[in-house]
Amino acid sequence: MPLEGRFTPPGDKSISHRLILMSLLAGEEMLASGLSDCDDVRSSLAIFRALGGRAEPEAGGLRLTGLGGRWEPPEGLELQCNNSGTSIRLLMGLLAGRPGSYLLDGDLQLRRRPMERVAEPLRLMGAKIGTAGGKPPVSIEGQPLRGIEHRLSEASAQLKSAILLAGLQAEGTTTVIEPAHSRDHTERLIDYFGGHIEIDSLTISVSRSELSLPRRFAVPADPSSAAFFLVAASIIPKSRVTAQNLLLSKGRSGFLRVLDRMGAKVSLTMLGDTPEPTGDVTVQHDGPLSATEIAAEEVPSLIDEIPILALAATQARGRTVFHKVDELKVKETDRLMAIRHQLGALGARVNAEGDDLVIEGPTSFIIPESLDSGSDHRLAMTLAIALRAAGASVPISGQGSISVSYPSFGEDLASLWKG
Ligand code: S3P
Repeated sequence: MPLEGRFTPPGDKSISHRLILMSLLAGEEMLASGLSDCDDVRSSLAIFRALGGRAEPEAGGLRLTGLGGRWEPPEGLELQCNNSGTSIRLLMGLLAGRPGSYLLDGDLQLRRRPMERVAEPLRLMGAKIGTAGGKPPVSIEGQPLRGIEHRLSEASAQLKSAILLAGLQAEGTTTVIEPAHSRDHTERLIDYFGGHIEIDSLTISVSRSELSLPRRFAVPADPSSAAFFLVAASIIPKSRVTAQNLLLSKGRSGFLRVLDRMGAKVSLTMLGDTPEPTGDVTVQHDGPLSATEIAAEEVPSLIDEIPILALAATQARGRTVFHKVDELKVKETDRLMAIRHQLGALGARVNAEGDDLVIEGPTSFIIPESLDSGSDHRLAMTLAIALRAAGASVPISGQGSISVSYPSFGEDLASLWKG
């Protein structure tokens, strides 16, 4: 049964987090439309309010009023990030230089994720940060900060963003040098909100700045959510799906370039460019896909789409290699292992060779009695698409996790897949 139709995925999760958290640093009000209402962004919003920010729903969006210089949160504030790695890591940078003391915590999955990669450079800036054996809960006592020059150990937008947000409050210049380009939403927003930032390829410098909010901000749709249906269209004969008003920055659209290389028909209609490029994207099935190699430098631009791209690779002729994807081991779950086990349970030939993920296709799926997402939202959606593509229906455990990033996934699935 083909997928057909147009849809608008929820607002981009990465931009929604940044818009909410960065608006704390500014004094004005802004009407934010299209914010994601996923669980992760709800966590950032609850923290925004706990810190004293005002967020009032009104026609057309949410009116956010930041704190700017009026920063007076209660002492020893406990802030619950739940499952959201972006919330905790961005907040570590944002709070390190603010008055007050804070405890940032999360759920059991977040409590297994590494935080020292963020804490270490922030300590070099003068931050007082403690972790529990490198993991959450993270304690912060706000301190005056000084700028540093720091070469990032991994191409991580969360890590980069934490240092840049601390740099906005630090004495002198703060410079980060990335090993490869990761998503640049924080940089774009700092610039758009009038902060001092200079970018020279992989080197980004900021200095102490007051941010000031525009009156309105429209969040474009999330490409990482759209990817589930766009990739599904590439593997299911006769499918044609259009995702509307999608965020299309280079750091987020790697999966579209990979689909194009694999032989799907991908077409873009650009809509806007400031502060982020947006457009409508159509993916049409165009015969069987072919295998491809995904270079290590490309990985940050499609890091969250690897589970669904891995599914595409199981249907492609030949050997697809995702190079150097060891970062997947420290996502919501060990995603490298989860992809291998769950696509393996469907009969796919999926192996880890060192830090590479290697998939031999094409595979005719065999249907097990059940599948297990390990409560990883991106795996749960990938498995749901795999079963639909195979025309099968078996229980997938942990599907409730889908609301972490895409609460309306089931509705969009039903509207595009009418069969
Ligand atoms: C994100 C960055 C990525 C991504 C995550 C969201 C962000 O994580 O996997 O879902 O909004 O900055 P890393 O920075 O750890 O690669």
